[in-house]
Amino acid sequence: MHKLKPEEIKKDFPIFEQEINGRRLAYLDNGATTLKPVQVLEAVYNYNTRAYGNPHRGAHQLSIRATEEYESARERVKKFINAGSAEEIVFTRNTTESINLIAHSFGKAFVEEGDEIVLAISEHHSNILPWQRLAAEKKAVLKYMYINEDGRISLEEIRKKITSKAKIVSIAHMSNVLGTIHPIEEIIAHAHKIGAKVLIDGAQSTPHIKVDVQQLDADFYVFSGHKMLGPMGIGVIYGKKAILEKMPPFLMGGDMIEYVYEDHASFAPLPYTFEAGTQNVEGAVGLRAAMDYLEKTGLDKIEAHEKELVEYALDRMLSLSYVNIQGPKDLNMRGGIISFTIDDAHPHDVATILDSYGVAVRAGHHCAQPLMRYLNLPATSRISFYLYNTKEDVDQFLEGLKKVRKWLGYGS
Ligand code: ALA
Repeated sequence: MHKLKPEEIKKDFPIFEQEINGRRLAYLDNGATTLKPVQVLEAVYNYNTRAYGNPHRGAHQLSIRATEEYESARERVKKFINAGSAEEIVFTRNTTESINLIAHSFGKAFVEEGDEIVLAISEHHSNILPWQRLAAEKKAVLKYMYINEDGRISLEEIRKKITSKAKIVSIAHMSNVLGTIHPIEEIIAHAHKIGAKVLIDGAQSTPHIKVDVQQLDADFYVFSGHKMLGPMGIGVIYGKKAILEKMPPFLMGGDMIEYVYEDHASFAPLPYTFEAGTQNVEGAVGLRAAMDYLEKTGLDKIEAHEKELVEYALDRMLSLSYVNIQGPKDLNMRGGIISFTIDDAHPHDVATILDSYGVAVRAGHHCAQPLMRYLNLPATSRISFYLYNTKEDVDQFLEGLKKVRKWLGYGS
């Protein structure tokens, strides 16, 4: 396998042409959002200048072209994650909306009083709050799988928490805080054995590792376009057809109906049942271009490249006595995310100081307050890699990191 050439890749991303605080940009906040290559920007521009119209609605050429663009983007997504059919691909605004839609509609159709909904303690708020609401509405029970000291969920914990009362298990493929790659194959196999469905939040995994939803046998797999070089405001639900067909619509309105009468209506077939109102066609077109770019580059190469950067960064961070790393030590158990704290420094100060070195990182609770409480941490700083990152980015980060305590008056 040939290696990635991140310096060459950077040339496709116009945002790197500028300096930040007088320094080259070391963008290490890819867990929050990723940057866009010209190929994605041009695809959106070309759509808007050549094929812009309201899809599924018109007999005129532009509406027909917009429909073709939108449906071709759906086909692209289907191929990217190897779904069985395009009917199983629903466009949403983002991962958050995807999970809300499933919690609402699956919950309405399938969840009853006393049923259990199983999550991991490391979930993002967007994979907790919709289930909290559903549990309250249905008098269902929320249960959490807890992580061990290494940031992992053990097989014992999986078997203990996912019991015959479980209706659905919802868990991130990769934690946005710890970078842990959860054992979703084991979780899916165990949940299916006892008759529960599984939703995988792929917001942090789909951009970085090859996902095959049929091989995984996930019932639902959801992700966002903007974390994989695409535009903001476009997200995806993959759902097994047999389950989606039994779920009621989420939003009601135009384009999701078959016939409407004064007091009732019938609905359009999948996937349109779940796509009410005018959709984000340019977002879908941009996502298609992003997926083309990622596949052309090679997901296997991207994954290997990020692993190399994580190893390079972790080795050097672990040699600094005042740096504390969260999450698995074993590189095979984690993706391209490193959360850390520095003795005597608040994570927000760390991020602000790093910014002055041209290094973009995220700091805070990362929308995962239950995890922070469980780890007994107020917040962490987080670096997260992508295909355009280089060892020079890591060195620039380390240069700033080594100055943090001095800036705050702690000497070294
Ligand atoms: N969920 C995104 C993150 O982890 C915003 O930064």
